[in-house]
Amino acid sequence: MADSVTIIDNRTGESIEIPIVNGGVDAREWSKLLPGIWFYDPSFSTTAAAASAITELDGEAGILRYRGYPIEQLAEQSTYLEVAYLLIHGELPTPEQYEVWKHDITYHTFIHENVRKRFMEGFHHDAHPMGILVSTLAALSTFYPDAKDIFDEQSRYKQVIRLIAKMPTLAAGAHRHSVGMPFVYPDNSLDFTSNFLSMMWKVAEPRYEADPVLARALDILFILHADHEQNCGTTAMRVAGSAHADPYSCAAAAATALYGPRHGGANEAVIRMLTRIGSMDNVQPFIEDVKAGKGRLQGFGHRVYKNYDPRAKIIKETADKVFEVTGKNPLLDIALKLEEVALSDEYFTSRRLYPNVDFYSGLIYQAMGFPIEMFTVLFAIPRMSGWLAHWIELLDRNERIARPRQLYDGEPVRDYVPMDQRKASA
Ligand code: CMC
Repeated sequence: MADSVTIIDNRTGESIEIPIVNGGVDAREWSKLLPGIWFYDPSFSTTAAAASAITELDGEAGILRYRGYPIEQLAEQSTYLEVAYLLIHGELPTPEQYEVWKHDITYHTFIHENVRKRFMEGFHHDAHPMGILVSTLAALSTFYPDAKDIFDEQSRYKQVIRLIAKMPTLAAGAHRHSVGMPFVYPDNSLDFTSNFLSMMWKVAEPRYEADPVLARALDILFILHADHEQNCGTTAMRVAGSAHADPYSCAAAAATALYGPRHGGANEAVIRMLTRIGSMDNVQPFIEDVKAGKGRLQGFGHRVYKNYDPRAKIIKETADKVFEVTGKNPLLDIALKLEEVALSDEYFTSRRLYPNVDFYSGLIYQAMGFPIEMFTVLFAIPRMSGWLAHWIELLDRNERIARPRQLYDGEPVRDYVPMDQRKASA
């Protein structure tokens, strides 16, 4: 059987064979054969908007790999900082390379005092930390005008280091501001994740000692969230990057997309949903409401996973370890019951809706003491390395500017009507 599709152009009777390459049809071949004919695919459901060598995802098989390494092995044996190196450079670091990487990231954890004083402290006391993060990321571009030199290797590397290194500082700063606590400066004697926890929770003690089980659990969550191929936020990063905007502005665009409740905001929505359900007795009625179209089961379903999200599996195991330290999150039983009911219900099984990464992550964050508003920020911290890996890749591949076609379905041509002759439309 030939690996191709044959299309008959009924206007001319011509039959055209288009090769299937890597499971898809190359639009460049298509447009050579059928010029002017385009696809209507508004949510990119059947469009590969990029070729990429960073993350491999097989939604049918529940497979996720970074640069070829299975997510399960990375979560078990690696650290977030090493994974960030892998995503950016394409290979795991040697001990010497890792030392340099760690040093460079640690050296750039501080933010300019004016970022804190003029921008972060300028927000209203109840500003959502994700709003603070998005705006501050964009503001950073004004502090580093050299970031515009996107084809200068050294400048590009410096911005990558700065962005990865400053994310925990910005994230913790956004939290401290929203609860009226003084900003805590980075402690560069700590590892990446413990340093973040110190900036979050330190009060008057000379040195914050993070619980090693909790620090490791958070590091695992960072690994799991570091990249996820062409999701909405990464696509925003790539689209802005394809216009050759600086990486801070691109990252602000990506973080904006991540903020939405259909995307990275879902972990927050899950906890709000579980809290609203409140008791085991309400689980079945809630499921019935979802099936009747009254809202969605948050933390369930995925555009590409039509099987259990492999990240959700690892997070569920991590949750057990966290709860041994923090005590069980009282919402866990409701979550387990919801999962059990949904996975044995035809509505969910026929649509192949399974728990995704956000279903259990919020329970861990909440048990660790993070306020709900911080959940998406916790997602954004490690996702920065994935966004940047994609940004570098599209520049290295010299991709053209992202500019989709449009199907116009508005009014046909009509003449301008002077204001005094217009009638209000119904
Ligand atoms: N609860 C109930 N029904 C659902 C859900 C859900 N969570 N997700 C999808 N469906 C139904 C939907 O109503 C539709 O049914 P029908 O065919 O009868 O109209 C069918 O399943 C297909 O849904 P869709 O909206 O076409 O799927 P999508 O690929 O456009 O959306 C999604 C994917 C993740 C936005 C969606 O599943 C959803 O809203 N889930 C809840 C929010 C969530 O957990 N988001 C986190 C995603 S994972 C983290 C990340 O990458 O950001």
